[in-house]
Amino acid sequence: MKSEELRGGSSSIIILGIESSCDDTSAAVIKDGVLLSNVTASQAVHESYGGVVPELASRAHQQNIVPVVDQALKRAGVSREDLSAIAFTRGPGLMGSLLVGVSFAKGLAASLGIPMIEVNHLQGHVLAHFIKAEGEEYNPPKFPFLCLLVSGGNSQIIKVKAYNDMEVIGQTIDDAAGEAIDKAAKVMGLGYPGGPIIDKLARQGNPNALQFSKPHIPGYDYSFSGLKTSFLYNLRDWMKEDPDFIEHHKEDLAASYEKAIVDTLMNKLRLAARDLRIRQIAMAGGVSANTGLRNAFHEYAEKYHWKIFIPKFSYTTDNAAMIAITGYFKYQDKDFCPMEAPAYSRVTIK
Ligand code: KG4
Repeated sequence: MKSEELRGGSSSIIILGIESSCDDTSAAVIKDGVLLSNVTASQAVHESYGGVVPELASRAHQQNIVPVVDQALKRAGVSREDLSAIAFTRGPGLMGSLLVGVSFAKGLAASLGIPMIEVNHLQGHVLAHFIKAEGEEYNPPKFPFLCLLVSGGNSQIIKVKAYNDMEVIGQTIDDAAGEAIDKAAKVMGLGYPGGPIIDKLARQGNPNALQFSKPHIPGYDYSFSGLKTSFLYNLRDWMKEDPDFIEHHKEDLAASYEKAIVDTLMNKLRLAARDLRIRQIAMAGGVSANTGLRNAFHEYAEKYHWKIFIPKFSYTTDNAAMIAITGYFKYQDKDFCPMEAPAYSRVTIK
């Protein structure tokens, strides 16, 4: 099929999505709402530093962006000229990382003479539930639903009224859940990112073995910095008795700390669901890969008669498929952005 047919002659909408907000360079192609490709290059360079180093992240994005976009187009069997629009993550995220994706999107869109669509990374995480791919089950939530968005940088409860109408009803007032997990893993000398390692250890530990002081914050907001400090101080005391406490108790430490975080997340979510009388409950963001949190979702669903929505693992962490699907919805609203649209490091869902 000729590109003119796709763009002008046929009604197909083909969106290239680009994500570069943190340490994953990702590109995806969606045609008429169906995902054709989703390619992600992760950056191993940060592992030895125990966290993402912004300058190294932006340099790695520069190296990765061209081959990743190239691969995404090839796998989708789509040429650049077939594209209807380019959707890109405009924020929030690391400024140096965002700039690589934003500049690339602008250059490509200008050279092809096609519109650009800015995507809020957080909105993208929520709309990951609407990614449709061949051979995969498609059972998205119905509006309105609540979404627990938990990642390395965010912990929020969002009331999702429509694709383009979301309201943050609760959020962390300090650290994000993922940040608190990664920090504990770092203190335990487990490496980065700590989330998957804590998850694995927690499966072999006793979640009631150790106690940490849980936060008491009004409303639907979260706070994880006190819990993080409690972990640090308790560990310091336990290590006075046994210098090898971490080695002797790493499974119980992981399980108990994970439980404190999961209980905190779920309690507020339950309150919000009860007060707003919403029983369609979804999760999104990197921390939703956590086994303890997924199990808790199933338990709450049974107890409180929720219909729950847990995305496929590859759609929970940072990926361009979620940017492309958001772009697809915005394309239908003709919600394009000007060439001078800057990246923004901080922004919330409107
Ligand atoms: O959404 P994401 O990929 O990146 C952003 O922060 O935007 O989330 C990354 C976070 C990290 O804190 C990582 O440790 C955490 O998700 N994470 C997990 C698991 N897998 C990733 N946390 C707990 N258990 C996991 N299995």
